[in-house]
Amino acid sequence: MGNKKDVAIKAKQKKQFDIRGAFKKPALAALAGVSDVAFRELCKGFGAGVTFSEMVSAKAVWYGYKSGKHFKTLDLLKTSDTEDIKGVQIFGSDADIISEIVGYDIFDKYDIIDVNMGCPMPKIVNNGDGGALIKKENWDKAKNILTRLVKATKKPVTIKTRAGFNSNTAVEFAKMARDCGIAAISVHPRTVQQLYKGRADWGVIKAVKATLDIPVFARGDIFSAQAYFDVLDQTGADGAFIARGSFGNPFIFAEISAVQNCSPTNNSPFATKIKDSPNPTKKETSPKLLKDNPVPATLLKDTILQHIDLSLKHFGERYTVLTMRKHILWYFAKASLPKKLKAQATTLNCTNQLKDFIVSTL
Ligand SMILES: Cc1cc2nc3c(=O)[nH]c(=O)nc-3n(C[C@H](O)[C@H](O)[C@H](O)COP(=O)(O)O)c2cc1C
Repeated sequence: MGNKKDVAIKAKQKKQFDIRGAFKKPALAALAGVSDVAFRELCKGFGAGVTFSEMVSAKAVWYGYKSGKHFKTLDLLKTSDTEDIKGVQIFGSDADIISEIVGYDIFDKYDIIDVNMGCPMPKIVNNGDGGALIKKENWDKAKNILTRLVKATKKPVTIKTRAGFNSNTAVEFAKMARDCGIAAISVHPRTVQQLYKGRADWGVIKAVKATLDIPVFARGDIFSAQAYFDVLDQTGADGAFIARGSFGNPFIFAEISAVQNCSPTNNSPFATKIKDSPNPTKKETSPKLLKDNPVPATLLKDTILQHIDLSLKHFGERYTVLTMRKHILWYFAKASLPKKLKAQATTLNCTNQLKDFIVSTL
């Protein structure tokens, strides 16, 4: 007989949820160096649906967990009760390790296990992980990882992939992954070799969606609420991930939900213009009305201060100063603030200075 906590955890593991339903709201993508628990809480507050951890190395978890001591990757696995449906993203290419670690209790609080099969960073690809797994010669390896993982966990297994390694092989790869029993797939429609160059070809997502019967989620160049609705319209995808579009702009989630929940009782500041519209409907109002809706300065200030406090709560002073400098530059770029303020932001070296700077600037 397990204790109360074990029973609760087991019940949660079995929790069946409708993955399509969970992605009715925009999801926050796994973003290394960005989607820590503080940023995820912030985005959740603005209306994000499923939130994903930064990618974690399967090997680092495997070695670290066995040591019995605190290891660095554990910080990436922190979650918050304010998050609703939580996804953890794993990268690695050793099927034994991946299927073993998902049984560790440190993953209990996660609802979805996502495998990275698309990261283009050389240090990941050269190690045979991430985007290397979609090279044709590695498809058997990818297949083995997914088959083993699906057997090893009761949780839905999803993958994040790209159009292909150096050419578009998305549909074939997606079919192979689907046959391994994955619950859903998300596609960033650029090749690994393309990195972030050129435009994301949403046609690739459309082709995958037209082929598969499992949910397909879109990624790529979703920098505005308009782009979010456009990608869903143009591809038929079951949901979409916000990635770079959230940098300095967690408000994007509020903009999207203001459109989705467009009604006279919506109190979001982003809904003002929608309410003013004579005949607000999702498709007609979203693009035009949201375009000229700048984030009010007080909201920007309060949000940055809240972000600093959330980060302090989870990670402490040093981490917060280093990561918040980067976030503040993004917030300022998004708000088109003068360049000299950006330079000033990079010189601040304690959170009190960061806060004073934000209060006096905004
Ligand atoms: C700084 C940064 C970190 C990222 N980290 C991850 C990651 O950990 N896992 C992942 O699957 N994708 C990661 N991505 C890719 C994004 O999740 C997303 O798929 C990609 O940026 C395409 O969406 P976008 O064009 O809307 O930004 C990262 C992207 C950036 C810019």
